[in-house]
Amino acid sequence: MIEKSNIDIVKDNVAEQKPVIEIKNVFKSFGDNQVLKDFSFDLKQGENVVVLGKSGSGKSVLIKCIIGLIKPDKGTIKVFGQNIPDLNREELDKIRVKVGFLFQSNALYDSMTVRENLEFPLRRHSIKTTKEQEYGLIVEALTNVGLADTIDKMPSELSGGMKKRIALARTLILKPDIILYDEPTTGLDPITGKEISNLMNELAKKYNTSAIIISHDLNCVKIVAQKIVMLIDGKCYAQGTYDELKNSTDPKIRHFFE
Ligand SMILES: Nc1ncnc2c1ncn2[C@@H]1O[C@H](COP(=O)(O)OP(=O)(O)OP(=O)(O)O)[C@@H](O)[C@H]1O
Ligand SMILES: [Mg+2]
Repeated sequence: MIEKSNIDIVKDNVAEQKPVIEIKNVFKSFGDNQVLKDFSFDLKQGENVVVLGKSGSGKSVLIKCIIGLIKPDKGTIKVFGQNIPDLNREELDKIRVKVGFLFQSNALYDSMTVRENLEFPLRRHSIKTTKEQEYGLIVEALTNVGLADTIDKMPSELSGGMKKRIALARTLILKPDIILYDEPTTGLDPITGKEISNLMNELAKKYNTSAIIISHDLNCVKIVAQKIVMLIDGKCYAQGTYDELKNSTDPKIRHFFE
């Protein structure tokens, strides 16, 4: 094996620090409603960042801009160096293999079994696997969310927390590098919410992912956030750790922690 020179090690370190998502000066309005007004923020490799903002502040719009479901009016959103608003459908499809998205509603297909729900992204992205490999990937993803025994169940037979886990398994099956979570614990009881939050941390380590998590749930935020970005007045108003922001003297920030 060839040993790495010092210069290679320096290069590796720089590469590690390079953001996986770079959002610069993003604006988005719907008619007169200015939702994002000069929003900028970088997500670094391996970081779990929570976006905190009140209802209607544009959190879901922001996440939809990142995966190319909504086009910003101005600004750049680079994911692994590629500017999302410039990409065509095919290019977006490729990026979406690397960027998993967990909808607030889970978006499981009610008429499909758990297994079929998990097969779906493999087929959708034409991932070439044999039947056995496909089965292996499904069992692996289900095992990692603690629900291997639900493979033949229908979503209607599962509790809210179980559906969230299955939706998470479906996101993980493509082994994404980044996961975007929209309100992962909303609608769950506090104990199940904490279980899901702990699972998110466990999976981030296991799959070596970076994540942007939208959440109002302070229990979840406390568990998963290495950093918090405050989305206020359409901007990245402040960022810091949970404790830094909780102890802020700015009333606009304190308000979220009361
Ligand atoms: N497709 C759309 N067309 C028009 N207006 C939209 C559209 N999507 C979002 N909006 C508006 O953008 C604003 C921000 O919406 P968004 O869903 O991002 O809020 P949010 O911060 O996710 O709120 P919540 O915490 O309630 O989920 C709202 O005023 C909403 O009405
Ligand atoms: Mg939302």
